[in-house]
Amino acid sequence: MNVDSIKSVGVMGGGVMGGGIAQTFIARGYSTIVRDLNDDLIAKTRASMVEGRFGLNGSVERGKMSAEERDAAVARLSFTTDVGDLRDCDLVVEAVPENLDLKKSVWSELDRLVKQDAIFATNTSGFAIGDLNKSVARRDRFVGFHWFSPAFIMKIIEVIHAPETSRETLDTMLELTRRLGKTPITVKDAPGKYGFVANRIYFAMVAEARRVLEEGVASEEDINTAMRLGFNWPAGPLEMVAGARKGWQ
Ligand SMILES: NC(=O)c1ccc[n+]([C@@H]2O[C@H](COP(=O)([O-])OP(=O)(O)OC[C@H]3O[C@@H](n4cnc5c(N)ncnc54)[C@H](O)[C@@H]3O)[C@@H](O)[C@H]2O)c1
Repeated sequence: MNVDSIKSVGVMGGGVMGGGIAQTFIARGYSTIVRDLNDDLIAKTRASMVEGRFGLNGSVERGKMSAEERDAAVARLSFTTDVGDLRDCDLVVEAVPENLDLKKSVWSELDRLVKQDAIFATNTSGFAIGDLNKSVARRDRFVGFHWFSPAFIMKIIEVIHAPETSRETLDTMLELTRRLGKTPITVKDAPGKYGFVANRIYFAMVAEARRVLEEGVASEEDINTAMRLGFNWPAGPLEMVAGARKGWQ
C-alpha cells in the first residue's frame, strides 16, 4: 500500500489517544471511522475531539483552522460499535488499552475482517511489534505507530519496524506521518525493552532523578532547578512525573 492509496482510516479505541489520532486524520483530509465499545464512550470522544481542551473548536478560536475547515473535518468523521465497519479501511490504527492479550485479540479479529492490503499500525507504548504481529497473517504490513499525548498537538511519532515489516510499509508510514504534519522517527523493534526511544530515555532519566533524591544528594526542587537551568529543559524531571500523572505526557 503506498501513501497515496491511503484514503480511509479506521481507529480501534476512541479514548484519550484514539480520539486525538482520529482528530489529526480528519483535520488532514482523511475519512476516519472510530470503533469503541458503546455509545456513551463514543459521545465522550466526539465531544472531546470538537469541544475539548485540544479540540477542533480551539483550533478555530486560535486561528489555526477556519470554521469551514472544522466543519469539513467533522463531516469526515464517523463512529461505530461494529468492528466489521472497518473492513474497507486502507489503514487501521489501534489505540485500545495497554494490555497485551487485549491487543492481540483485537488484531486477530481485525486481520480476519479488514481487507487484505490494509496496513495495521499499533499505538502501543512499548510492547514488541514482533510479538504483536504474530496475531496477524499480514506481518509485512504491521508496524508500530507511537504517538505522544495530546496526540493532536504533539509533533513526533515513533514509527517502529519489526524484522517482518516491509520496507514499503515503513516508507508509507513515514511519509504518512509527514502528511499529517508530524515528524517521524524510525525505530527498530527491541523486544525485551519497553518504551521505544523517547519513553525509554525519559524513564531512565526519571529513575536517576529519583535515586539522586533518595540518596539525599539534593532536594526535589533543586533537582528540577538543575535540569531546567543547566540543560534548558522546560520542566525538571520530577515535575515532569507530576505532570504526567495529571495526564499531559
Ligand atoms: N495516554 C497516553 O499518554 C499515551 C501516549 C502514547 C501511547 N499510549 C497508548 O495508547 C493506547 C491507548 O491509550 P489511552 O490512554 O488512549 O487509553 P484509553 O483508556 O483512554 O482509551 C482506550 C479506548 O479503547 C476502548 N476499547 C477497549 N477495548 C476495545 C475494543 N475491543 N475495541 C475498540 N475499542 C476498545 C476503550 O473503551 C477506550 O475508549 C495504549 O496502548 C497506550 O499505552 C497512551
